[in-house]
Amino acid sequence: MPKGRPMNIVSSVRTGWHHACVTLACLVLVGCAVPARLGENDRARVAGRTFVVTGASSGLGRGAAIRLAEYGGNVVLAARRAAVLEQLADQLRAAGGQALVVPTDVSRPEEVQHLAAMAMSRFGRIDAWINDAAVAAIGPFEQVPVEDHARVVDVNLKGTLFGSYAALRQFRRQGFGTLVNVASVEGRIPLAYHASYAATKAAILALDAALIQELRIRGSTGIQVASVLPWALDTPFWDHAANYSGGTPRIASMDDPAPTVNAVVWAAIHPAKEVAPGFKAQAALLGDQLWPGLAERLAAGVVHRSQIETAPPAPPTSGSLYIPLAIGTTVEGGARARMAEEDRNRQPIPR
Ligand SMILES: NC(=O)c1ccc[n+]([C@@H]2O[C@H](COP(=O)([O-])OP(=O)(O)OC[C@H]3O[C@@H](n4cnc5c(N)ncnc54)[C@H](OP(=O)(O)O)[C@@H]3O)[C@@H](O)[C@H]2O)c1
Repeated sequence: MPKGRPMNIVSSVRTGWHHACVTLACLVLVGCAVPARLGENDRARVAGRTFVVTGASSGLGRGAAIRLAEYGGNVVLAARRAAVLEQLADQLRAAGGQALVVPTDVSRPEEVQHLAAMAMSRFGRIDAWINDAAVAAIGPFEQVPVEDHARVVDVNLKGTLFGSYAALRQFRRQGFGTLVNVASVEGRIPLAYHASYAATKAAILALDAALIQELRIRGSTGIQVASVLPWALDTPFWDHAANYSGGTPRIASMDDPAPTVNAVVWAAIHPAKEVAPGFKAQAALLGDQLWPGLAERLAAGVVHRSQIETAPPAPPTSGSLYIPLAIGTTVEGGARARMAEEDRNRQPIPR
C-alpha cells in the first residue's frame, strides 16, 4: 500500500479474512493432516533411512529418536550429554534399532560439521535432519544477563543455521533430503519474558521460508524444508531454561509432548512447509491472522500474572545454557504435575 494512503476499512477486513482463510486452509491441510498414530506407509518411509536428531537427549528430540528407531530408522543422536545419549542408544539397539551417538554442541560449527561427517561415514546417506536442540532464558528482558540472551541465540538460531547448512550441503550432494527445523508458536506469537527465545524462533521461521524459496527457484524438488511450530509442551525444557523471573518456570495450558513428537516424525517423512501440531497451536495462529496483536496482548497478561506475580519464588539460574544439567532426561518433563503441586500449596492471597 502506498505510504500515507489509509487502507479502506472494508478492503482491510476483506484482506484480513482472506489471509485468515488461507492460513486456516494451510493449517487444516498440514496441521490436521498429522495423524494421531503413524501408519504402515509411514513406517515404510522410515525403515532403513537415516535421521540426524539434535537435542536427542530429552524432550521432543528424544521422543522423535525413539519413534524413528521403533520404525526401523537409523538414528544419529546429537546433544551435549554423551552418557545420556549412550544409554538411549543402548535402549534403541536392544529394541532392534540402529543408533549412533555423536556428542555435539550445536553452537559450534565444527562440531555440527563433525556430526554430519559421522552420520555419513556410518550410514552413507542422510534422509532427514531434525534441528530440535534449543534453550531459553525466562525473565524481564533487561534482568536476564545479556550473555545469556546471546547464548540463546548461539544455540537456537546459530545451531539451527549450522545444522541446516550441513544438512543442505549433504542433500545437494546426494540429491534428496528433508530438513526439519523445530520452531515454536512463539515464532509468530512471542511471549513476554521469553524475548530472546521468541526472537530465535521467529528467525528460524524466516530462515526456513528463505531456504524454501531458494530450493523452489533452483528446482530442487527432492529436497524439502519443514518448520514445526509446537505449542507449550510438558518436556524437561522448563527444568533446563535459564530463569531470572524470580518465580518457578510456569506456563498455562501445556500439552503432552506425544502428539508433537508424532508431528516431528511426520514432518521428516512427508514434505510440508509448516506443521502446527494440535488444536491450540492452530487456533492461536489463526487468531493471530484474524486479529493481529490480540493473542500477544492476551498472552502477555496471562504470562505476567503466572510467571511474575504469582509464581512461587525461585533463585536465578542460567539453567543448561552453558553446561548441561543432569536433570531432565525423559520425554515428558513433569512440569504440569509440579505446577499443580505448587497451586495446591499456594497460600491464599490476603484480602
Ligand atoms: N517445551 C515447550 O514448551 C516447547 C514449545 C515450543 C517449542 N519447543 C521446542 O522444542 C524443541 C525441543 O525442546 P524440548 O521441549 O524437548 O526441551 P528439552 O527437553 O530441554 O530439550 C532440549 C534439547 O536440546 C539439547 N541442547 C541444549 N543445548 C544444546 C547445545 N548447545 N548443543 C546441543 N544440544 C543442546 C538438550 O540436550 P543437552 O542438554 O544434553 O545438550 C536437549 O536434548 C526446542 O527447539 C524447543 O524450542 C518446545
